[in-house]
Order: sequence, then C-alpha cells, then structure tokens
Amino acid sequence: MYSKACAIALTLVLPATASPVVEGLGIRVPFQKRSALADSRGIFDYAKAVRQVVHDHNKHRSNLQNVERHVGRDAFNEGADIKSLMELPTHALERRQSEGLNDEDHDEFWAGNIAVGTPAQPFYIDFDTGSSDLWFPSTKCTQSACSNKHKYNLSVSSTGKQTDRQFSIHYGDGSAVSGPVFTDTVGFAGLTVKDQYFSAATTLSDSFGSQANDGILGLGYPLLSNIQKPPFVNSAKAQGVIRQAAFGFKLGNVGSELYIGGTDKTQYTGDVEYHNVVGNTGYWQIGGGQLTIGSKIVSTGIKTVIDSGTTLIYGPPDAVAKLYASIPGSSMHGANTGFYSFPCDKVPSNVAFSWGGKQWTISAENFNAGQKSLLEFTCLGAIVAKDLGLGDNVWLVGDSFMKNVYSAFSFENNAVGFATLK
Ligand SMILES: *[C@@H]1O[C@H](CO)[C@@H](O)[C@H](O)[C@H]1NC(C)=O
Repeated sequence: MYSKACAIALTLVLPATASPVVEGLGIRVPFQKRSALADSRGIFDYAKAVRQVVHDHNKHRSNLQNVERHVGRDAFNEGADIKSLMELPTHALERRQSEGLNDEDHDEFWAGNIAVGTPAQPFYIDFDTGSSDLWFPSTKCTQSACSNKHKYNLSVSSTGKQTDRQFSIHYGDGSAVSGPVFTDTVGFAGLTVKDQYFSAATTLSDSFGSQANDGILGLGYPLLSNIQKPPFVNSAKAQGVIRQAAFGFKLGNVGSELYIGGTDKTQYTGDVEYHNVVGNTGYWQIGGGQLTIGSKIVSTGIKTVIDSGTTLIYGPPDAVAKLYASIPGSSMHGANTGFYSFPCDKVPSNVAFSWGGKQWTISAENFNAGQKSLLEFTCLGAIVAKDLGLGDNVWLVGDSFMKNVYSAFSFENNAVGFATLK
C-alpha cells in the first residue's frame, strides 16, 4: 500500500508516468438500480442466487481461458485452474423460464446508458471490472433472449465496420454469448471514443434474457479480453479523450455512478488508500489482504480480485467456514451450496477487509443477502465458499464489499484504492 510517507518518497523517484490519480477531471456516468439477491420484502431468492453463482463461475472460467490464449498459464496465480463449465441445476432453470415473463423479477445490475454508432444507438450497459469486452445484442439476434433488448444495426451506422473477429463466452446455460466483432464510435455524455471494438451478439445466453441490461462494458485489463483488442477506457486514454486511464465507482441504493478519467472527489472524504495490483493476471487484483471479524483474523496474506460485475464475495471454503464459525448459530445452507445462513438477529456488522491500511468494514445491511423465507428468521451471508479457480488464497470481491466504500482503479499506476464514502 501507499502509506502517506511512502507516497511522498515515491513521487520523488518514480518516472513521470506514475502520476497521482487525477481528481475531478473525468466524466460522470450515473446508473440506476441495485443488484440484489433479495426481493423487495428482503426475502432471499435462492434460484436467482444459484444462477448468479453459475454465471460468476463460468465468467471467470472464460476469463482464464482468454488469458491462457493471450499469454499462457504463466500469467495465472499460483494454484489457478480452468474449472469445467458449470451447468445450471434444473430447479434454477425452471424458475428462470417462468421469471422471464415477469418484468418485476428481472435481475438488476449497475447499469447506465451508452451510445453506439452514427447516429447514436442507445444501450443499457452493466459496468464490469471483472471482464474486458464490450458487447450487446445485434439486430441479427432472433432468439427470445434478445427480444426485449436494444440491438445494434450496422447498416444504419455510418461509422460502423465489421471485422473478421468473433467473440464467444459460455455462461453454462446451454448457450453462449457470441457474435461478430465490430468497430464503431462509442460514447457516454461528453466522451466519445472512435473505432472501439465490441461484439454485437447474434446469440445470447438465456440468463441474459431475463436481465435488465442489454450488455456489458468490461473495465478489466486488456489481457482478459476475448476480442483481444483494447477495452473502452484504454482506447479513451489512447485517443486522449480522458486525462488518465483511471475510473472510480460509487455503488449505492441511490446515486450510483461510474466516474471515468479519475476519481470523483465529491463522493468521498479523505484520501484514497491505494494498493498495487499484484501479478499480471488481467484482474484488478491486490495482495497482502486480511479478512477479520471483530478482533478475530479469519485469513491473512490473501489476494483479492475486485469485481463490480459480481454481487457476492467468494472465498476459499476453509477460510469461509472459519468466518461463519464466528457467527453464532450459523451453518451451511443446504449441502455443498457454499451459502451460509444464521439467525437474522446475528447479522455481523464487523466483518472487514484490510490491505495494510484501514479496516474496510462490510455493513450488516450489505453482509445480509436476504432472509430465507417470510416464516424463517434465518438470513444468508454475502460471503460464499467457492473455489472459482482464480488461485490459492484468492478471493473474488464483488458489490457486497464495493457498496461500503468508494473504489478507484488506475491503469496508470496499476493500483486499486478505497476511500470513505461521503
Ligand atoms: C437495419 O437498418 C436497415 C436500414 O435502415 C433497415 O432496412 C433494417 O430493417 C434494419 N434491421 C433491423 C433488423 O431492424
């Protein structure tokens, strides 16, 4: 981490490229809605949670495959492994098909609007630090999963071109998101990138059909890209439309925003505590982490991948078991699900990650993924036991953590930072 004294010393010796992250010179992209596994009454939706676990497993499997294709397994963390494709259990599948008919049950994501092509075609996009491609459906997608979505029509864009590349990611529900790769102008309010690579998908996994967003904009390192071309923020920097290849997230029940080009000082107090990205895994991965509950250390020397595209937090099963052993009355929710439950009056408010600086605490509200049912006063935890193949002692840290802090990501300094939300 950069301690204060250390940061002063570093500015004297580092080359000019390692400048502090710029505050207040970027573009605000507000987004709507919040990701949740519980319904409006706070009841945990187990089928939805299972679908997310399958989705997260396969997304990271696909990331590892992309890295392997780019540079080989040398870039993997120690102990990392491409797991086999995880299939949706039938019960989750049945539930999903019935849900697809009901707008109110749509999964919710941190999504905002982007404009693609000339004239602009609008898309509602999920911003994902855990992947590195931009994609949304094409008018050539005739599946029902595409029916309620905005679709890209190449023939009405004067700036669009099809490339000879193909994009494909398997999410494990019998189909893949796949389609040809295009280049076109991609913009947010006030920020326009030319010739951005993306895929307009001609097939879409059913799991995306029930989601409110049209597609995904990846904010990870180029190494994770399936298209194998610079992701949006990197293109924006290369074209000089942002000062810095850096961005910040505020995730909240209201007022969520992505800030591109630096950090948004109006959203946090004090300094951002930065930590160097470790390894060359393609992920926003920081090391030297520690998970604690109260004064008890659960796990130390951990690596953490910070992923805005994941709702939950996944940790090695042994460490996660140790965490829940400190929560009175907790037990595994069903056999081998990875989820744990505990009495709803025992939701902890003192589980925290730290990386050698402050303790960044997960609030009880964010630790609680929902109540088991209206009749059972049992709640499920947002930390799940599951090895996603990312490596030994690696945790995947999603929104349940990110909602507690302002988070900053800098390609310039290869660092992830956290600050106290205003
Ligand atoms: C795409 O745009 C062209 C030109 O306006 C139009 O003829 C075509 O119907 C559009 N395709 C779809 C599927 O909407």
